[in-house]
Amino acid sequence: MCGIVGYIGKKNSLPILIKGLKRLEYRGYDSAGVAYIKDNNIKIVKTVGKINNLDKLLNYNDESFIGIGHTRWATHGSVDTTNSHPHQAGSITIVHNGILENYQELKEILTNKGYTFKSDTDTEVLCAYIDYEYNQTKNILDALNNCMKVFEGSYATAIMVKDIPNKLFVMKKDSPLVIGIGEQENYIASDISAYADETSAYIILEDMEIGQIEKDNISIYKNKKEIKYNIEQVEQDAFDSDKNNYEHYMLKEISEQENLMDKLNNIYLKNLDKIMDISKYNKIHIIGCGTAYHAGMIGKYLIENYSDFEVNTYIASEYRYQKIFADDKTLVIAASQSGETADTLACIKKVKKYGCKTLGIVNVKNSSIARAVDEVIYTEAGQEVAVASTKAYSSQVYIFSLLALKLGITKGLINKNEINKEYEKLPSYIKELTNYDYEDIISKIWQAKDVFYLGRGIDYISMLEGSLKLKEISYVHSEAYQAGELKHGTISLIEKDTPIIALISDETIALKTISNIKEVKARGAYVVLLIKEDLNINIDKECYDKIIEINATDNLLQPILNVIPLQLIAYNIAKKRGCDIDKPRNLAKSVTVE
Ligand code: G6P
Repeated sequence: MCGIVGYIGKKNSLPILIKGLKRLEYRGYDSAGVAYIKDNNIKIVKTVGKINNLDKLLNYNDESFIGIGHTRWATHGSVDTTNSHPHQAGSITIVHNGILENYQELKEILTNKGYTFKSDTDTEVLCAYIDYEYNQTKNILDALNNCMKVFEGSYATAIMVKDIPNKLFVMKKDSPLVIGIGEQENYIASDISAYADETSAYIILEDMEIGQIEKDNISIYKNKKEIKYNIEQVEQDAFDSDKNNYEHYMLKEISEQENLMDKLNNIYLKNLDKIMDISKYNKIHIIGCGTAYHAGMIGKYLIENYSDFEVNTYIASEYRYQKIFADDKTLVIAASQSGETADTLACIKKVKKYGCKTLGIVNVKNSSIARAVDEVIYTEAGQEVAVASTKAYSSQVYIFSLLALKLGITKGLINKNEINKEYEKLPSYIKELTNYDYEDIISKIWQAKDVFYLGRGIDYISMLEGSLKLKEISYVHSEAYQAGELKHGTISLIEKDTPIIALISDETIALKTISNIKEVKARGAYVVLLIKEDLNINIDKECYDKIIEINATDNLLQPILNVIPLQLIAYNIAKKRGCDIDKPRNLAKSVTVE
């Protein structure tokens, strides 16, 4: 949440700050601002709305060689210009990503010392406290070090000091921050995608570290001592943020799933030794948030087919505070696209105290979760720009299928040659499903106030994901239900033409779901039935209004296909409703606060 950038060097900082902010807009986009030094004065420009609004306000003739910037996802205080960053107090100007949890207490201390506050934010308090410490110590590094002992919560902060106009400072705890290394210039960003085309090398700041950044020098300190740092190389092809003529990133990313499956087959299917052997554990906990949690729930079903023990999936924000039963025979798998989700990362830190082994299924290389786990399997989906996750989900499900596959092969329960053929057919099946014409269905349901998604077992999990996609991008209320559960209350909401999207891909319980569909049909619902194509059952034409046949594959892979129509139905409804598909209201792609 929130993206921060900074630049110091030989070029005009303003275009560089704006470029970085546009690339970090996925982290939040309700307001934005920059601060830069011009003729020894710190100038601040900020406004509500997306970076384009800020862009229009800037005077690019104001040449400046040092600056910081911020794109906000509001946590404390409403979305307005006063609450947006940068914030300033005395000599200090900052941008901040994170939450200062003890800000009320510090605000009181500072108020008693004569500080006044304009905004409702925790960040202004953080800024004023740095100023207070700076006034006491007269040394910014000592001041930041003292602040770190007092600050509770999370922060990645870029700092300008009025009387030190040739340096930027950064400090970090529990929110990500990198320093891009250039020639006679250096960059700051929440993640390196902001400046991957400007720098080939970067430093990942670790928790409790402070950085002092000049145009030709970078020093990192911890506990008042200068420390050595590692230099990471930017993987250039990891950041493809070109829309390639697609109307939206989301559509581009849905379409990319076809080639992604091919890529994953080449990387992993042919080298199953790259996939962890999970047979030696006696318990598996899978954790994640949002879409990644849904992929984890699919993972539970897939792995349980071949395991002798229960696999449990948990929402990370719950797991981090709940009582858990885990030990050194427990494998904890964290699924995360960004690798930065604060709650998921906190779970990894928690389970290490129990002696658990940790595995990350992560998309972004070198991200915090990728570095925190014992082993990582990268989902290789490339940069996902749209806030609503699509290709990251299918690639996570793919990796879960391989964990189950390897377990099944180890136990002699799966014939590798036969299943390989199914993996190889995935791209062509996905192509068919993406090319399908959904217009007929969309035209009937795009104006609905509520949409219900029904399924049983693993199909219900796909429906949770389908329902989430619809809510996220179209703002249509929707809920997913286990098909048999609807009659215990929610069926009261079904009236004439209420859209029901139902999925049947598990033959063993198909007839049960059909009975439930008949129940809603009898109450006037408009039923769209998604069904695996070769199910050996008779379906009464009376029980649905539209039917989409989904290519049949092995049960291990069926969920990857089942989600494609659900993604496209959500996308097309949102498009027809004129929504901002890639940047839906109130959301952010990377959630680095609790
Ligand atoms: C946010 C995003 C979701 C994502 C979730 C978990 O809510 O909007 O699309 O599923 O975070 O993110 P992660 O990066 O850990 O997969």
